[in-house]
Amino acid sequence: MRRHRLLLVGPLVLLTACSSTVLRPLPVVGATGIGDPYYPGDGNGGYDVARYDLDIGYDPADDVLTGVATISATTTGAPLASFSLDLVGLDVSDVQVDDTEVEVTRDGDELVVDRGQVVVDGDFTVRVAYSGVPEPVRDGPGVSGVVPTEDGVLVVGQPDVAATWFPVNDHPRDAASVELAVTVPADLVAVSNGALVERGDPVDGQRTWTWRSDAPMAPYLVTLAVGDYDLTDRVVDGVTYRDAVSRGLPERFAANARSALDRQPEVVDFLADLFGSPYPFDECGAIVTDSSLGFALETQTRPIYARDFFGSAEDAQLVVVHELAHQWTGDDLRLDRWSDIWLNEGFATYAEWAWTQAQGGETVADQLADVLEQPADDEFWSQAIGDPGADGDELFSSAVYVRGAATLAALRQEVGDDAFAELLSRWTTERAGQAVTTGEFTALATEVAGTDLTDFFAAWLGPGRPEGY
Ligand code: ARG
Ligand code: ZN
Repeated sequence: MRRHRLLLVGPLVLLTACSSTVLRPLPVVGATGIGDPYYPGDGNGGYDVARYDLDIGYDPADDVLTGVATISATTTGAPLASFSLDLVGLDVSDVQVDDTEVEVTRDGDELVVDRGQVVVDGDFTVRVAYSGVPEPVRDGPGVSGVVPTEDGVLVVGQPDVAATWFPVNDHPRDAASVELAVTVPADLVAVSNGALVERGDPVDGQRTWTWRSDAPMAPYLVTLAVGDYDLTDRVVDGVTYRDAVSRGLPERFAANARSALDRQPEVVDFLADLFGSPYPFDECGAIVTDSSLGFALETQTRPIYARDFFGSAEDAQLVVVHELAHQWTGDDLRLDRWSDIWLNEGFATYAEWAWTQAQGGETVADQLADVLEQPADDEFWSQAIGDPGADGDELFSSAVYVRGAATLAALRQEVGDDAFAELLSRWTTERAGQAVTTGEFTALATEVAGTDLTDFFAAWLGPGRPEGY
């Protein structure tokens, strides 16, 4: 994970009188972090990105990525005399701010447009030309980030891999639309989020694929998979499902993947009913890779699945339920800070439990009872899942997933089925498209239930086995 000194400006805005009637804030230097205590270097201060236009080439022969990123942003407070983007490694050859060429400083994982060149105020555009071999990211389950594969490349990772392949305000608090045009050898398929706008004709052995997501997306959810994929599409109930399944998968894995993916519209219906709100996007689908990553990721509209999950039909179905549940909780509603990760993983795991019960398997109540059977002195209870710690094995611990789901199952027993359904529905409807916090969820729960749930959440999200259950 990237950690950095957190520099400069807080909310301080200097005011100066520049005419008798108008007070104009003086330009300030944007912070090099968005203000998430877990990852102080992630994201940046002073602006909000509306859109990334990424024009990228990737050569699987030497892993070199060549890109031009055009970032459309707006200042959020005072004009900026200097600001930064996140970018890990890679060589920057040219940067323009609103068509003015500027010098930049590379400081660790920050790309800084130094003061004294331009002042941005309101809408502005940054264009960055860059290239290089992206640095892989080490995390709990193995490697992530831009991962070369046997047939191409895969971009996958959480919490903060976006900066390893494009200049970005790399924090889910700042979601943006994305258009990605990617040029790769013509015999390979390039898959990303959202709609396939164009599959270009081969030119000199290369082909450009253009993908677009208008719905704002957290940077870590932007994905790219290049390789030998079978790409299919179909429309069900107004949602376009595009599935890319690696042709390298062993037959049994491919068959399990196909049958799990065939049921995606059914899963989406089930989840819309569970969450009490419609599927948030008009695109859906999957990228099933032949690589053994050890994890899947809820990349927006098109989750990435490592082959590991497709050894059994049951695992296959559950991981699809999990990642599609994240489209509501994780993607459409996204984290304002990473310490609230249980809002993502607890909800997606709860959805797996609810699905299992609906299929005639173990009930949610029994799953909860199983969890509570873990002895109170078991290490499983030691972590505060509401503030789990920033390391990969803390953020994505089984306690965050399982106790997160158990928290919801216990909450349902506490407030009753009707209030619980109303809570999920109001949460996913009223907060659709926004960054959310645990405090906002517990406040809504308290409002819907009409009882103070402070002690309930303190017991379930804090360390230790909750007493009285
Ligand atoms: N959010 C993913 C999921 O539960 C897990 C990602 C964990 N992997 C990691 N790169 N640390 O579906
Ligand atoms: Zn998850």
